[in-house]
Amino acid sequence: MSSETLDQPIQLSGAEQTAADREAQAALRARGPIPAHVACIMDGNGRWAKSRGKTRVTGHHEGVVSVRDVTEAAAQLGVEHLTLYTFSTENWHRPKAEVTALMELLVRTLRREAEKLHRNGIRLHAIGDLGRLPARGQRELQEAFDLTAGNTRMTLTLALSYGSRWEITGAVRQIAEAARAGRLDPADITEETVSDALLTRGLPDPDLLVRTAGEMRLSNFLLWQVAYTELYVTEKFWPDFRREALYEAVRSYQDRDRRFGRVEGE
Ligand code: IPE
Ligand code: IPE
Ligand code: MG
Repeated sequence: MSSETLDQPIQLSGAEQTAADREAQAALRARGPIPAHVACIMDGNGRWAKSRGKTRVTGHHEGVVSVRDVTEAAAQLGVEHLTLYTFSTENWHRPKAEVTALMELLVRTLRREAEKLHRNGIRLHAIGDLGRLPARGQRELQEAFDLTAGNTRMTLTLALSYGSRWEITGAVRQIAEAARAGRLDPADITEETVSDALLTRGLPDPDLLVRTAGEMRLSNFLLWQVAYTELYVTEKFWPDFRREALYEAVRSYQDRDRRFGRVEGE
């Protein structure tokens, strides 16, 4: 079956899109440009749970509901790339029980959602040190990549066991090896050479980076790629970040003046 169901409504959540939501999206599109690439640092699952007297793992489960809603709304809006910081290289240092629960949640979510992503024309992609993930996780991921490889409506990239410094270090090593082998003259190294040696090669740089839960830091996420990305930090915890919150972030993005170092109006 072809996944090119571009005329069909996008539906990941099981509920049909409401007329009010369709109108909200149309108004947003009419209001200004929709960012082609949105990246999210999904933070605050633990604090969300704590504020309700629940376990951190419950917070991660509720976070998946936000992932589904934000993914669906982004695809409906016409966002081309959605990149979600799901698990960092530093997150491996969390208590073993939490890491295990997160990996379990990844496997279960992939199993439950991959087919739906496919039916909706969404391609699943991942960046990170995937070899460190448990074998079952790697298998589920590979199956989802294979299933959705031909889809073009939106690319959903999960940053998994991802760290920007780890990624850049790998790129430097790859470039140095090419130079040593005589395949590359160091004088020919350009910004593009570096970009192409990163795991994000082929992805445009993010236009909008959302961080939930209020922290004003990047936490080792896409350091090279966010050089000119518009940053948006909200106090909302990730489990509370649903489609209306995404629309608010996009409105903020639309109100920015992206100068890229030039003079306004040039
Ligand atoms: C984000 O929520 C999820 C991951 C980093 C995997 P946190 O688990 O970091 O939640 P807080 O920051 O402790 O509230
Ligand atoms: C960033 O959140 C990583 C992910 C969202 C996957 P963290 O909770 O790990 O970041 P810090 O510790 O607050 O910097
Ligand atoms: Mg956190």
